[in-house]
Amino acid sequence: MTSPVHSAAAVTHQPERTPGPATARRPAPHELLGLTSPAYGGDYNPEQWDEATFAEDLELMAEASVNLVSLGIFSWARLEPCEGSYELDWLVEIVDRLHDTGIAVDLATATASPPAWMAADHPESLPVNADGVRLGFGSRQQYCPSSTVYRERSAALARALAERLGDHPGVVMWHVGNEYGCHTAECFCPACAQAFRAWLADRYGDVERLNTAWGTDFWSQRYTSLEQVDPPAAMPTFHNPAQLLDWRRFSDHQLRSLMETEARILREHSRQPVTTNFMGDFPTIDYWRWAESLDIISDDSYPDPADPAAAHEVAWASDLMRGLAGGRPWILMEQAPSAVQWRGRNSPKRPGQLLLWSLARVAHGADGILQFQWRQSRQGAETFHSGMVPHAGRASRTWDEVVSTGRALKRLGPVLGEPVRAEAAVVLDWESQWAMSAAIGPVELGERFEAARAWHRSLWEAGIATDLIPAKTDPGADLSGYRLIIVPTIFIDYPGLARSLEQAAAAGAQVVVVGPTGVVDAGAGAVLGGYLGSLRPLLGVRVTDHAALSGPVEQSDPRGSLVNRLSRVVGTPAAETWTGLEAVAETLHRVLDRMGSPAPDLRAGGWAEEIRVDEAPGDAEAAQGWEPAEVVAVFDGRGGGSDLAGRPAITRRAVGGAGTAWYVAADLDALSRAALLRLVCAHARVRPVVADLPDGVEAQRRGEILFLLNHGDRAAEVAGVVGTDLLSGEACTGHVVLAPRSALAVRDNMR
Ligand code: GLA
Ligand code: ZN
Repeated sequence: MTSPVHSAAAVTHQPERTPGPATARRPAPHELLGLTSPAYGGDYNPEQWDEATFAEDLELMAEASVNLVSLGIFSWARLEPCEGSYELDWLVEIVDRLHDTGIAVDLATATASPPAWMAADHPESLPVNADGVRLGFGSRQQYCPSSTVYRERSAALARALAERLGDHPGVVMWHVGNEYGCHTAECFCPACAQAFRAWLADRYGDVERLNTAWGTDFWSQRYTSLEQVDPPAAMPTFHNPAQLLDWRRFSDHQLRSLMETEARILREHSRQPVTTNFMGDFPTIDYWRWAESLDIISDDSYPDPADPAAAHEVAWASDLMRGLAGGRPWILMEQAPSAVQWRGRNSPKRPGQLLLWSLARVAHGADGILQFQWRQSRQGAETFHSGMVPHAGRASRTWDEVVSTGRALKRLGPVLGEPVRAEAAVVLDWESQWAMSAAIGPVELGERFEAARAWHRSLWEAGIATDLIPAKTDPGADLSGYRLIIVPTIFIDYPGLARSLEQAAAAGAQVVVVGPTGVVDAGAGAVLGGYLGSLRPLLGVRVTDHAALSGPVEQSDPRGSLVNRLSRVVGTPAAETWTGLEAVAETLHRVLDRMGSPAPDLRAGGWAEEIRVDEAPGDAEAAQGWEPAEVVAVFDGRGGGSDLAGRPAITRRAVGGAGTAWYVAADLDALSRAALLRLVCAHARVRPVVADLPDGVEAQRRGEILFLLNHGDRAAEVAGVVGTDLLSGEACTGHVVLAPRSALAVRDNMR
């Protein structure tokens, strides 16, 4: 019998290592696809239309400069009308005719939505939600990822397609499934419960190790057999966070194994590259791991035209895809030609926006721009989702913009394969996101990747090119290419990341760590001895407590103050959703003074921490000449932070000369982030792609080509632009005017 008391070390298991995207070692998409200009096209669903429409499609595709379509994504019911009997001839004929017209095919394995016979004959293939409800047929993605019949039939369909079309010259790429997990990211059926147990047995070996890892002595959750363990379905109250975290890992693994099975089968029969379409920072899938199995990274992205910050969404998702591709180019697999149909209100794209956002994606590393979908459906759930060929047909603004976007992309051949070079990086980690949402408290922290998005946005608004990089690197992985690395709320303590950051800082980088970071180990158990865990030696601080602000306290009846003698003089630690900060460092004062008069004040939002600065560096740090951390800003007692007044909020520690490790113990508001970044970027000597651009204009560089993207509603003038605009073919000789929502792609130089 094991002792009921376990040391923290016993429940700490090392996270699985992600050795960096395999795509980084593969040829670039344009080489794999044989492109001479960026890919352009969309999802193509000809089975929804008749022969006359198909013939017209071929003409319209030529008019729109389409060179790639995704075919067969939802064609399973047509390809395998009865279980085990295939009808592939119609698909082959379409591939033939597209190929004859010069249009290449990204061929789907068609496994995203099984046909009616599977649901009717094998009802156990339908997924079960957390409330135990089995979902019905008549929508899409209605399969359980552990279902034997789904696994067998999807693998068999992928094999049938690969055998028949694997060496067809018109098929240039394979599209496995579609948006894995978009609707069904987890299933609570008996088959999944069994598969979960098998996965746990594999991970822990025996039930005692699982008990240790999950801390089951809490609330009498101890198991005596793995057979007793269930998925975390609906329960009376809070789940065990470790169980939830493992469930996320398992659910991700289950879907990934489907994709990997199909990819393996395709590769047995075909030399064409394999992709599956990602969904940006989709919360339940660890794309760092998925990227390992893919030849080309592709993304579906639907920023809302009604959101003034939609262009940041474009930049964020694109930088993430480039990161997943190991810094190589990637492909936009889906965007809306105009409006989607799935929001409460579905705004159309504004005039010029289809081209502008397409170019923005290219500027951030895309070598292909595809849309959902080619022809707007006449029936079904997506009837009112825009298509490249809208209901109105050619006589429409959407069509005009589709044609002009195709023409513009054709001129961008010189961009293909060119790298985006960034000196700043933001760390992003799905498992940390899972661990943070599995934790009960200390505070519900907003939308997914909120801190990473916020810091990325601040860099984007400041015009600084930024990479997104994984937290789970090889211990000591080389981050020396970056002069600025931001670690925004990485909830799990990763010793390997800490070593890499130490080396980067010692080599001169500015490292900015933002709380809450390093709060739990990979098993969701709290880090003891002060949060920040492995990052404590680098930062020279430890977090001794969390101090979440809980929002304005409701004012009680003012007449109560006449009678509540005891409680009327009692404050609360969290009476506001914000807390004030005061700059201590003179350099930060100067930055604030330069930002405006009177100088703006520093504020943080709903999160703050009590931290302690280590008075003396540890022996190892002292030996390297590291000084104790110094305080850059303190909480000033305004807002909800009165109990924190005077305590350190931002610290910095000089690390062996040029490098600095900063710690931010609060979620700074946008202005405070901008102020701190000005200071940090000055230390890092990280500069915007182009300085002093007018409002609304974004600059990004790919190789020798400078993209100037005017997202604003006003024309913008930029001086010092010299070179040839690839889009118009015209020379720029200094001063250029960008119309509202327009762009330039200038080859050569600027300033
Ligand atoms: C996703 C899917 C497409 C389509 C679009 C609509 O991206 O992959 O099939 O449903 O959404 O926006
Ligand atoms: Zn299931």
